[in-house]
Amino acid sequence: MIPAYLPNPFAAVFGGGRPIDGGRTYKDGKRILGDGKTWRGLFSGIFCGFLAGCIQIWLSSIDFEIMGIEMPSFGADYASALLVVLALASGALFGDMFKSFFKRRMGLKRGASLPLVDQLDFVAGAWVFTYLTDPEWFVSNFTMSIIVTVLIMTPLLHLTTNIIGYIIGVKKEPW
Ligand code: CTP
Ligand code: MG
Repeated sequence: MIPAYLPNPFAAVFGGGRPIDGGRTYKDGKRILGDGKTWRGLFSGIFCGFLAGCIQIWLSSIDFEIMGIEMPSFGADYASALLVVLALASGALFGDMFKSFFKRRMGLKRGASLPLVDQLDFVAGAWVFTYLTDPEWFVSNFTMSIIVTVLIMTPLLHLTTNIIGYIIGVKKEPW
């Protein structure tokens, strides 16, 4: 999940500038995505998640392990492993963007909290993209027990990193 976890915090650190929706509104008169979804955040976030995945692929290729735990394999060969890593990283931010679209339709302003959805949007996006990219890899790696573990651990991890982001001033809200 590391390539899917990193894009959000790095989008918060490096994001800003031109919003993806270009400031445009939807037919309901509200913003399509809002100022919290920017091109810079999207690209820098995906890049950081992808880079982390590349490092993991490399560590796995040199049989690196930490306290007896091996690095995960993202695929049988480099090409499929890189695609899976890219799907995890880009899926995370597309899931986040999809959520913002629906938050705006619900009349929620940028940054307004939507409990659990805010914490799991990127997990859902990463899983959908990864499943579509490599269904075989997905089903053999995301077993039911791993899925349940991720669904329980992610909101806790997300909340912790967001509180840190709020304290260091890259997030406007602690969620
Ligand atoms: N960010 C960005 N581009 C993205 C995603 C995030 O620039 N594609 C940056 C924005 O500065 C954003 C911050 O990361 O404010 C935190 O992201 P998030 O919590 O997802 O955005 P919110 O501002 O809460 O907006 P929303 O209500 O749409 O979720
Ligand atoms: Mg938010």
